[in-house]
Amino acid sequence: MPREIFIAKTSDLKDGELKKFKYKGRSAVLVKIDGEFHAFLDYCTHAGGPLTMENCKLKCLTHYALFNPKTGEAETLPAPKGSYLMEIKIKEENGNIYHLNTIVFKDKK
Ligand code: FES
Repeated sequence: MPREIFIAKTSDLKDGELKKFKYKGRSAVLVKIDGEFHAFLDYCTHAGGPLTMENCKLKCLTHYALFNPKTGEAETLPAPKGSYLMEIKIKEENGNIYHLNTIVFKDKK
C-alpha cells in the first residue's frame, strides 16, 4: 500500500494555476485544469528544464516547449514528439491532495 503524502489543499489552487512541491526531494508541479488536479515531475522531456503554467499549458522555462497539463504530452518542439512528462499519481480526499509515491511513465517507445 503506497504511503500518501500531503501536497496541498484543493482550495490552494484556482483553475489554470500551478503549485511546486517536493517529490522525494525532487521538484514537482501540481496543476489544476478544468477542475481536475494533475502532478508531474518538474522536468522537461527535452533537457530537464523547470516548468510553469501559462495560458492553461505547462511551459518549459528553458526553451519554451509546451505540454498538455492533463496528460503531460509534449505539444511543441523542442520537446520530442510523443514524449510525456513523468506523472505523479495523486489522490483527492476531504479537500486535500496527496501523492501516492508512484510515478507513471507514458513515453511512446
Ligand atoms: S529543456 Fe525544456 S524545451 Fe529544452
